[in-house]
Amino acid sequence: MAALSFENLSKHFTDERGHRTTALREIDLDVKDGEMLVVVGPSGCGKSTLLRLIAGLEESNTGTIKIDGKIVNDVSPKDRDLAMVFQNYALFPHLNVFENMAFALKFRKVPKSEIRKRVEEAAEMLNLSSLLKRKPDTLSGGQRQRVAVGRTMVRRPKLFLFDEPLSNLDAEMRVALRGELKRLHQSFNSTMIYVTHDQSEAMTLGDRICILNHGSIVQTGTPGAVYQKPVNMFAGRFLGNPGMNFLKGTLVIDHGKSAFLLTGARSSFPISLENPPDLNSEICLGIRPESVSFEPTGAVNPSSVVFEAGLEIVENLGHESLFHLDLFGQSVKARISSSKPMVASGPGVVRFAFRDMHWFDAKTEKRLSA
Ligand SMILES: Nc1ncnc2c1ncn2[C@@H]1O[C@H](COP(=O)(O)OP(=O)(O)O)[C@@H](O)[C@H]1O
Ligand SMILES: [Mg+2]
Repeated sequence: MAALSFENLSKHFTDERGHRTTALREIDLDVKDGEMLVVVGPSGCGKSTLLRLIAGLEESNTGTIKIDGKIVNDVSPKDRDLAMVFQNYALFPHLNVFENMAFALKFRKVPKSEIRKRVEEAAEMLNLSSLLKRKPDTLSGGQRQRVAVGRTMVRRPKLFLFDEPLSNLDAEMRVALRGELKRLHQSFNSTMIYVTHDQSEAMTLGDRICILNHGSIVQTGTPGAVYQKPVNMFAGRFLGNPGMNFLKGTLVIDHGKSAFLLTGARSSFPISLENPPDLNSEICLGIRPESVSFEPTGAVNPSSVVFEAGLEIVENLGHESLFHLDLFGQSVKARISSSKPMVASGPGVVRFAFRDMHWFDAKTEKRLSA
């Protein structure tokens, strides 16, 4: 087990024509001993580069990496005592599952009885005990991926690094293995850094998540905290399926108080902002699809506002439906439970509760509400 920290870590690549790509920019991050930290962000945001720096496969341009308080920038990969599982793992085709899992230990001259003990233990945890004599080509994708995880587990590394290990699997297998990895982490208590572009994987697996975009950290926190209080519109949009809705409008004064005038709407409603921008600035109302209701008619009450809306399409997902609504030319998605009474089937009103509203500056995209 190990704690890990980065300070001011930057990495750029220069191609043969001298063109420079910044893969990581001034990363500061602490990972606690025993924590599962999920780094999540779109393709190309620097996730693999971060893992390669931790593993020592790549050198940083600035900054330090510490494992258990010791700077490891100059420590060779094999002496960092960590294990990495890649998206494209390669098992030895001519070795069976047991031999694949035992390979690294044999190489390190670990005694035979100890190898057997560790492989059997890992196989038990990963549900591979009955497959130990099988060759990789007789296994399913999910089973092969579990062997790849087992192979790193038997080494008992201080730190596990996972680089999108589930992205080559079909949806069902992904969800099943996701659960197994979570259990594995709970029973092992080892420090794990898991990177993915998949927000649902991040939300379900991470003790904490760290959202990365264009090589910079956007936000770090527990999945719940980041979901409930995104620091900017990118974070709001990135988490959730679909992500947060954003509606443009203007900051105005009404009866001496700050108020929001939704673009196209006739009247404003009062809002409170922690860091209000200048008057008449463009601001965005952020609202999660599950916080939007769509009713045949509706009266305003002190806890919510209503707007007339048109219904464009309904996507039926079984347990719920995704309503695509038009609000004065802006689109809003609403997740509506199939068991919910009082849902409009033609034009209707959307209702937003004040407690579910998030506010952002339309220009900087930064959060304005507390
Ligand atoms: N060896 C390399 N040479 C040049 N550019 C690279 C190299 N590795 C990564 N990059 C660039 O750095 C950025 C981050 O890449 P990467 O860490 O692989 O992103 P992710 O894993 O999040 O998809 C991308 O723009 C990528 O093209
Ligand atoms: Mg990658």
